[in-house]
Amino acid sequence: MKDDYSFIAPYYNRLAKLVFGKKLKEAKNCFVSGLEDKKILLIGGGDGLDYQEIAKKLHGQYWEKSQRMLELAKRNLSESGLSFHLGEFKVENSGHFDEVWLHFVLDTMEDSEISQLISVLRSNLKANGRVYLVDFFEAKSFWQKGMLQVMLGFFRIFAAHKRKNIPDYEKLFLQAGWIKSTENDLMDGWVCAQIWTHH
Ligand SMILES: C[S@@+](CC[C@H](N)C(=O)[O-])C[C@H]1O[C@@H](n2cnc3c(N)ncnc32)[C@H](O)[C@@H]1O
Repeated sequence: MKDDYSFIAPYYNRLAKLVFGKKLKEAKNCFVSGLEDKKILLIGGGDGLDYQEIAKKLHGQYWEKSQRMLELAKRNLSESGLSFHLGEFKVENSGHFDEVWLHFVLDTMEDSEISQLISVLRSNLKANGRVYLVDFFEAKSFWQKGMLQVMLGFFRIFAAHKRKNIPDYEKLFLQAGWIKSTENDLMDGWVCAQIWTHH
């Protein structure tokens, strides 16, 4: 599989911190709770650096499409109880996980891929399992709109992103039968952390 993130993987986290400070890390950690009792499925976690402080409490599976990112994650999360997998998440067992973390990964996918993934996830979660989504939503201010265009262009060039816009996550989740249970808005709602549950 082609590694679209091989070039930017070593700089990704530093770049994100340079532009957004600790805001993205904050969004990725704001709904973290009760990890000792949870089995987590992390999809597209990148270099894993933003989870380093909670690594010892992390158990479950870590899926990364980029080999370079996965190598960094293995190093950054070496103290975790996660198993690391190269590639796109595949359905292996159902009713398996307590939580799925989708942090800044859905914005790299086409709508059809998102719909397929979030419907597959339902059968991989326990009855009371939940999805912890964090991503960029609609840009609000003039600065955010400009910054978003720069980011979309940058990732199209350096990481072969296909999208030219931000997905309508809420529409896709609602269509797939998910229910939003809570939300935390950062940067005036440009970045949102949400918890989605299913019946
Ligand atoms: C924009 S980066 C974000 C990385 C990390 N979540 C973060 O916030 O720093 C998206 C990551 O998702 C990975 N990715 C994209 N689609 C994926 C898929 N279907 N399965 C696993 N990883 C995927 C990419 O390789 C990349 O490392």
